[in-house]
Amino acid sequence: MNERPLRVLMLAAEMVPFAKTGGLADVLGALPKALRGLGHDVRVCLPRYGFIDKTRFGLRRVLEPFPVPMNSGTEVAEILMTELDRGVIVYFVENAKFYDREGIYMYPDDADRFIFLCRAGLEMLRRLAWPPDIIHCHDWHTALVPNWLVTIYRDDPFFAGTATVYTVHNLAYQGVFGHRVLEIAGLARYEFEAPAGLAPKHQINFMGRGLFYADVINTVSPTYASEILTPEYGEGFDWLLRERRDRLYGILNGIDYEVFNPATDPHIAAHYSAADPTPKRIDKEALQAEAGLPVTAETPLIGMIARLSDQKGFDLLAQIADPLLQNLEFQLVVLGTGDEHYHRLLSDLQRRYPTRVKVFLTFNAPLAQRIYAGTDMFLMPSRFEPCGLGQMIAMRYGSVPIVRRTGGLADTVQEYKPECGTGTGFTFGPYDGLALLTALVKALANYAHREAWGALLRRGMSMDFSWQASAEKYIDLYRRALAGRRQPVAPAEFDEVPG
Ligand code: GLC
Repeated sequence: MNERPLRVLMLAAEMVPFAKTGGLADVLGALPKALRGLGHDVRVCLPRYGFIDKTRFGLRRVLEPFPVPMNSGTEVAEILMTELDRGVIVYFVENAKFYDREGIYMYPDDADRFIFLCRAGLEMLRRLAWPPDIIHCHDWHTALVPNWLVTIYRDDPFFAGTATVYTVHNLAYQGVFGHRVLEIAGLARYEFEAPAGLAPKHQINFMGRGLFYADVINTVSPTYASEILTPEYGEGFDWLLRERRDRLYGILNGIDYEVFNPATDPHIAAHYSAADPTPKRIDKEALQAEAGLPVTAETPLIGMIARLSDQKGFDLLAQIADPLLQNLEFQLVVLGTGDEHYHRLLSDLQRRYPTRVKVFLTFNAPLAQRIYAGTDMFLMPSRFEPCGLGQMIAMRYGSVPIVRRTGGLADTVQEYKPECGTGTGFTFGPYDGLALLTALVKALANYAHREAWGALLRRGMSMDFSWQASAEKYIDLYRRALAGRRQPVAPAEFDEVPG
């Protein structure tokens, strides 16, 4: 079909290489590039956090300061921009009061900060005279945009041809605030339009509004898209997702094949590829040395890289850590930061098993790449996993994944069947310590069969987890959103509402 290229504005809180706490940033770093490669004009808008260096990234001002409606008054925004390779344009909303801070989130005024990002982003478009076909919102921070487009912007000719897509990267973080945020966002007048079930009385749930108002919703793997229709995974929104299931899609994330490539990665000790993975053993020695663990080629080395949160299954690991370490021969390297509780738990393991366990309580991208390259196996026992990027990166680096069969993990890792010579990793179903233990025992036992293990590792390395296929699916999704735009609610419906 010969369809015209689309104009897409993505709004997000994080993007590699500017600001990152998790996989959301990786997706924003890679998906726009891939869409651009398909010939579409994709631009991104994010806050200019204080730590984003203007000189280093060549940020220049494109719009003079202008007023943005906020809280029945205005706040001033300025827009900076830069152009990345492949022509992806990134706009930065500048406002010292909201963004000149050391971190990305966890401030008492987060609602104001992200409302401002989105409203400034929309007003910026008008000033740039660039009406988008699609506004693509990511996670709760940007979830009010679909609500705005069917309310305060509904009669605005500038947005008459714009549809919204809302991508859920993690349903567990919803952005729940007091009622006041509706006034800040200019939505108080329309509040009775949203169904009561979106949030308890006197609370406003950003995620719920994105799910309710977006023209099309998607999440980042097909399995997670069906899991969230159930109470177990729906985080209180399974009812709404079931109601809107004709508009809900699952598109698997890819990984950035330029960044994550063991044949060219500048951060690792030795380069290798599926054709000849043998130099990987040099990366393993280097990692063992860096971690202060005994340098032994025979001992299987397991890696974990994750936010230290309940989602990631550290509680399961804690349940079985002692019997595991006491009965099986392996080393474990963990990288991540997060809940204090898990910091303590992991530090304690390292203290008790200093020659077996090394924990890096930080986040460091080059070290992460050395861990993917240096480990034999990669563990992700997640309670839930919208997509998960680690298992895909691990496979590309020849580190065999051991995962719980949930969300994107179920979609990307196939159980190894030694008798058939098929599969790419080890999986387990129930969320319990024994199931995890069984998978680990199986993986460690198979590690001894060097030749079959080599074939297993190469199968993983040869999988295609690039963005190409998924980027094409996003284009389909955008066209669906344009074809089936949500009807604005008739003005009369609000005007009768008292208060
Ligand atoms: C979130 C999810 C993770 C997903 C990532 C990018 O961090 O927890 O599963 O891969 O977003 O979509």
